[in-house]
Amino acid sequence: MSKTRVKYICSNCGYESLRWLGKCPGCESWNTFVEEIIETSKRKPAAYKGQISFQKINDLTSSEEERMKTGIDEFDRVLGGGFIPGSVVLLGGDPGIGKSTLAMQAASGIKEKVLYVTGEESVRQIKTRADRLNVKSDDFYVLSETDMNVIIASINSLSPLLVIIDSIQTMYRSELDNSPGTITQIRECTSLLMEQAKRNHFCVIIVGHITKEGFIAGPKLLEHMVDTVIQFEGESNHTFRILRAQKNRFGSTNEIGIFEMQGNGLREVKNPSELFLSERSREISGSVITASMEGTRPILLEVQALVTPSNYGNPQRVATGFDYRRLSILLAVLEKRAGYRLSANNVFLNMAGGVKIDEPAIDLAVCCSIASSLLDKVIDNNVVLIGEVGLGGEVRSVGNIEKRIQEAQKLGFKKVIIPHSNLKGLKENASIEVMWIENLTDAINNIMK
Ligand code: TYD
Ligand code: MG
Repeated sequence: MSKTRVKYICSNCGYESLRWLGKCPGCESWNTFVEEIIETSKRKPAAYKGQISFQKINDLTSSEEERMKTGIDEFDRVLGGGFIPGSVVLLGGDPGIGKSTLAMQAASGIKEKVLYVTGEESVRQIKTRADRLNVKSDDFYVLSETDMNVIIASINSLSPLLVIIDSIQTMYRSELDNSPGTITQIRECTSLLMEQAKRNHFCVIIVGHITKEGFIAGPKLLEHMVDTVIQFEGESNHTFRILRAQKNRFGSTNEIGIFEMQGNGLREVKNPSELFLSERSREISGSVITASMEGTRPILLEVQALVTPSNYGNPQRVATGFDYRRLSILLAVLEKRAGYRLSANNVFLNMAGGVKIDEPAIDLAVCCSIASSLLDKVIDNNVVLIGEVGLGGEVRSVGNIEKRIQEAQKLGFKKVIIPHSNLKGLKENASIEVMWIENLTDAINNIMK
């Protein structure tokens, strides 16, 4: 006996309720509840009478050595060294960021059978993109379909090693009454794919769209289910794209991959520092170079600040690529500890190149760029500044200092300013001058010309 009822699910976190709610008690977001149809069955499940099998962990072989590489180093590194057979990867990102392009390029690098399932484009449109990306692989199959049952049947008949589902929001299972894109459909389609992938040892890339508020449906829900969640980010008016792992059952989540979108697809950026510094403005106040760690790689980048007098009431603070609240804190530290009056000034801060940085090690550079712009004094452009700034105006130690210094040296910088507490155990380096400072005022006094 079954009857149909409805319930309400938060499309952000998956919180369930029998009533519609304006604000989600789970994740506190507003207006995220959507109606879902549920089928309930009153029948009790019968006791299991089938065969049960266990295996000894020592008898099993690990799938680490079977990792399937795409040949795109930036992508493989984010995955933890390639796909583990049977794993499901969720590739999320804003519409138009390049998810389909990335998935297709990754798939074309694989020497085995690949099935690209599209629910958004026609097979011909896929072909147009493939030509643009110069896909040559002979084992690349395309299917334009949204019914999961047909997709699973196609997978079973083709036995590919990699399946791309573009996108999960367009897929549906015909047994369910919900329309495609609803949480129930997304969850059920994903769990079916997971189950098939684990059983038949193929890998799946699930493409998922994101809106400003998060996923269109069920981000947390999907994140819990899949093995790996990677996010493709970038500013729409910049050509750089950053691939970040948010969850990875088989690798680190610290790694990032950097790409540049070009006319014929995504190009790997192997040396990000050179790229971020390529348009560096020389001899201009407010410009400072710093070294940030992105995963295991140090990246040198330019921090730019512009401080102008505010003539109308409230001064503006705008930060691009940097946390706004962190900027407010650093401004307060500059006022109180270093004595710069910023309350009557507009402050605009920018991470050049469109990168987003959330590492405290660039605090010192941010403070110095603001001071430099306020005083209109140029900072020597051969200096790299590294350090976290505390509320007392003290400069605190940061991780991976050697790697950062090496990167600065590699790119021909003459001097690096580091926190005093990072000096311990630091190896001598002949080709770059290492200077230590204890607080913010020391740093500012030292670098202004
Ligand atoms: P697409 O992969 O379709 O994005 P998504 O699947 O995330 O929605 O790519 C979208 C953008 O990328 C589109 O605006 C065109 C641009 N693009 C290039 O600049 N070069 C290329 O070679 C390709 C294929 C796309
Ligand atoms: Mg797409």
